[in-house]
Amino acid sequence: MKKQRDTQLLHIGSAPFDPTDHIAPVGLPSIRTSTVRFANMAALEQTMAKRAMGERVTTYGISGMQTHRALEEVFLAIEGGSYCVLSSSGLASIHLALMSLLKAGDHILITDNVYGPVRVINETIFKRFNIDVTFFSPARDRLSELIKPNTRLVYAESPGSLLMEMLDLPALAKQAKQLGLSVVVDNTWGCGIYQPLALGVDVSVVAGTKYINGHSDVLLGAIVTGRDDLAQQIHQMQYAFGNSVSADDAWLSLRGVKTLAVRLRQHAQNTQAVCQFLSKHPKVSRIYDPAWPQDPGHQIWRRDCTGANGLIAVSLKCTPHQAQAFVDRLSLFGIGFSWGGYESLVQWVSPAVLKNHSYWQERDLALVRLHIGLEAVEDLIADLEQAFECLP
Ligand SMILES: Cc1ncc(COP(=O)(O)O)c(C=O)c1O
Repeated sequence: MKKQRDTQLLHIGSAPFDPTDHIAPVGLPSIRTSTVRFANMAALEQTMAKRAMGERVTTYGISGMQTHRALEEVFLAIEGGSYCVLSSSGLASIHLALMSLLKAGDHILITDNVYGPVRVINETIFKRFNIDVTFFSPARDRLSELIKPNTRLVYAESPGSLLMEMLDLPALAKQAKQLGLSVVVDNTWGCGIYQPLALGVDVSVVAGTKYINGHSDVLLGAIVTGRDDLAQQIHQMQYAFGNSVSADDAWLSLRGVKTLAVRLRQHAQNTQAVCQFLSKHPKVSRIYDPAWPQDPGHQIWRRDCTGANGLIAVSLKCTPHQAQAFVDRLSLFGIGFSWGGYESLVQWVSPAVLKNHSYWQERDLALVRLHIGLEAVEDLIADLEQAFECLP
C-alpha cells in the first residue's frame, strides 16, 4: 500500500539490520568517507561497467554513500521527479543547475522576483561567459515577446523572494513548453507544500538550508528533475565542478526532515495568528503572504499548494528609517537574512532592492520581512506589539 508522504519521510533512511545480530539503530549514521574500497578487481570492474551504462554508482567519496542517497530519496519524495543531486548550498544548486543547462552565447529569461544573489551570478559569471539575461515579470510579459533565437531557459521563483509574489507556474510552464524552453524553479519556499515538477516545470532547486534542515545549522541544496536528458547534463556538471556535501550535513538534514511536516504546520499556524494581529494594526499597510486571504496570490496558492510556512513581508506606515528602528526594538526576532529554521527572524528590506521587482508598489517604502518561528505565538505578537510603540 502506498504510504502518505509524511509517513514516507519518517521511514526513508532507516538503518538496515545487522545480518548477524539482527538489530539496527533507528536512523542511518553519518557515513563519512573520502573514498571507497573495492573488495577485489572484479567488484571494481563491475561498478565501472554499471557507471558506463549510465547507472549512478559510488566509486569515490565525492558522490557520497548511504547517508547522501537517503537524503536524495527525501528530496525525490518531496519534490517528485526521478533524479536528485545534492550540493553545498541553495545558491550552489541554482548555479549548478543553470551552468549545466546553459552554454556561452545562450539567452535566459529570469523572473524579476528572484533571490537577490541570482543577480550576482549574472554579474559575475553570465556576463563573463557571454550568457545573455532578460529579467521579466510573468504577470506583465509574455514569453513569446521576449524570446530570441538563442533563448534556452526560463528561471523562476514562486513565491518570489521578499514580496512572496505567487506565480501561475502551470501557465508559465505551458508557454515555455510551446516555445521549446525548459523551466527551472527555485522551490525553497514550497519544499514540502508545493510541487513545481507536477505543474509542468522541468527542474526544481531547493535550499535545504531552510525548512528541510530546519535548525539553522547547515547549508545544503538539491536539484531535482524528472527529465533524463537534463539529469545527465546536471550530473556531468556536478562531477566537473567537484561539488560535494559533507556526510554530517546530509545526516543533519535527514534528521531535520523527520519533523518537516509538523514544523511547517506550526509555522503556518503561528503565521496566520500573527497576520490576524498585523491586519488590525493601524501601522500596517499591507501583508505579503500568499496564505493570507487578502493577498493577490491567494487563489493560486489555494490551487497549487497544500500548505504554507512562516515567511511573510509586512509594509509599515512609516519611513524606511523608522522601520529600521522597529526592527531594532524587536527582541524575540533576531536580525538576520535567513529563514526556515525554528526561530523567528526579521530583515529590513531596502527600497533600492525592491526596485528590481515589478510586483513592488512604490508606496511600500518601509518593508520588513518576518520569519515566524516556533516560539509561543502570544510571545511573538507581544514582541511585535511593543516594537510598534516606537513608531510615531
Ligand atoms: C529563495 C531562496 N533560494 C535560495 C537561497 C540560497 O540558499 P543558501 O543560503 O543555502 O545558499 C535562499 C537563501 O536565503 C533563498 O531565500
